[in-house]
Amino acid sequence: MDNTFYIETWGCQMNDLDTQRISGQLKLRGYRRVENPSDASLLMLNTCSIREKSEHKVFTRLGQLRTEKARGARIGVSGCVAQQEGEAIIKRAPYVDFVIGPGSIGYLDEALEGRQRVVIGFPEDRRYDFLSLDRPSATRAQITVVEGCNKNCTFCIVPTTRGREVSRTFASVLEEAAHAVSSGRVELELLGQTVNAYRCPAGGQDFADLLGAVAVIPGVRRVRFMTSHPAEMSARLIDVMREQPTVSRYLHLPVQSGSSAVLRRMKRLYTRERYLEIIASIRSSIPGMQFSTDVIVGFPGETDADFQQTLSLMATVRFGSLFAFKYSPRPGTAALRLGAPVSDAVASDRLAQVFALQESVQQEILQGYTGKTVEVMHEGFSKHDPSILTGRTDDNWTVNYSGDPSTPPGTMLPVRIAEARHYTLRGEA
Ligand code: 5AD
Repeated sequence: MDNTFYIETWGCQMNDLDTQRISGQLKLRGYRRVENPSDASLLMLNTCSIREKSEHKVFTRLGQLRTEKARGARIGVSGCVAQQEGEAIIKRAPYVDFVIGPGSIGYLDEALEGRQRVVIGFPEDRRYDFLSLDRPSATRAQITVVEGCNKNCTFCIVPTTRGREVSRTFASVLEEAAHAVSSGRVELELLGQTVNAYRCPAGGQDFADLLGAVAVIPGVRRVRFMTSHPAEMSARLIDVMREQPTVSRYLHLPVQSGSSAVLRRMKRLYTRERYLEIIASIRSSIPGMQFSTDVIVGFPGETDADFQQTLSLMATVRFGSLFAFKYSPRPGTAALRLGAPVSDAVASDRLAQVFALQESVQQEILQGYTGKTVEVMHEGFSKHDPSILTGRTDDNWTVNYSGDPSTPPGTMLPVRIAEARHYTLRGEA
């Protein structure tokens, strides 16, 4: 059997990037990527453990892929479930050949060559080789600037699964960014679990410095970053966002709850009032800024009054998009000591209310674009209809449009918006 691999990715952008790293390393070793598990000699699941549901899915999926073992294929598990469960994965699913955590991707050989079956350390030397990344997009590159997280939000498993914060050096990020741009990736996305906590271990530069430097790399057309923590939104960072035309007018700023009492129990390090102040100061500084957020409902002790505050915060801010989740108790997190989560029925009801409110706000925001001409970075063809072109605006809306199919990806196009769809805009280049 020649060496082929199949990989499934769940979870956040960091996991997407880990897949790009794993894939790149495997290709360097002569593996070819396939899209069908039954064609692969190595099957990898790159897993997520942010909520219990994501974790359950892993074992269900492993059970399905197990049949591939009969013809001699190997199975590997990476990502946050790998880190969290380690050896326990092999106990529960002994047919899994190896387990490799997010801190050890640079040590994939240990697992591939059978020297270690469970590789889940956070070695001092994280061995990050950007030259071997297998980037899936011709126009966009994701670049890790800081790994891990030092915030200790009481609900969150990330500090356990991805370790303490480790920032890359300023010089290495800039080198990777320049290299990505030279290969046509004119849109850069700087990534970190708390990206704006970045601090160069060599020169002490912070995220505002880094963003400012990346934004002016010759050839860069657009720079985004994800995920920002509200407590790390400095005035200097907002200045850089305003001053650099390549920095996207879109910010993902997870709020989690609109109630200061809940935020305190979550250890989010800001109040409702402070969050609203940050949004207002960014909006007054940068007109047209679009925000997205994450919300958790049903956190232990969340009363109906607390929940109403979340709805009212949403109505005040008017997020362009929003991701909402029912609280899910995670092993080893401090929130486990805060008492029982609210009942599942109540949490489901609250979740539905969040979605309903968001849906109507989002429709109004999208309707506001009709008749206007927006600048779109052309990305390619729509997945659903290859006769339609697709791209995104500076403020991160997906736009589908008719136009010249020979337009090179990465081109900036004026598109007249004819219609607002459910989550996207529709127009003509
Ligand atoms: N339960 C529910 N949602 C969670 N998130 C993180 N941990 C949990 C949890 N234990 C959500 C947060 C975070 C997003 C990535 O996932 O909203 O911002």
